[in-house]
Amino acid sequence: MAFVLSEDREREVSDILSRYPNKMAACIPLLHLCQDANEGWVSEEVILFVAERLQISAAQVKGVVTFYTLFNQEKPGKHQVWVCHTLPCALRGGEHILHHCEKKLGIHAGETTPDGRVTLRSAECLAACGQAPMMQVDKEYHENLTTEQVDRILEGLLKDG
Ligand code: FES
Repeated sequence: MAFVLSEDREREVSDILSRYPNKMAACIPLLHLCQDANEGWVSEEVILFVAERLQISAAQVKGVVTFYTLFNQEKPGKHQVWVCHTLPCALRGGEHILHHCEKKLGIHAGETTPDGRVTLRSAECLAACGQAPMMQVDKEYHENLTTEQVDRILEGLLKDG
């Protein structure tokens, strides 16, 4: 089924397109908008929609989607947890935080809990290196993490109805 946007989202698309010097430059913001409108992921239908709107090839859009880890190629869980694994976070225990999340959630990075509540991923630097180790939960950053803080955060997500 073809992907379509609501009238409000279409207005946002027009606004995005007006802000960039060429259509290709609008690819990332348009993909973010469409991902939000498509339950958090970029389907083949979304890729075709974006390609048509930007008058570029589907292969170009797919190249962007597969390069940036913040674009989901499958439907994610209700909440998304991104644990930074880049060097500054790694030196401050980021890998331990990721393993702790895996143990607590009973899944590996890249997987979603069986109840569909949480998708866990490891991430490249999220630009909060000064507050390492850190993770992003949906759109919120959690910094200077301890395993106790992680437990509280994850328990909140697992309980969230
Ligand atoms: S290295 Fe983790 S936020 Fe930059």
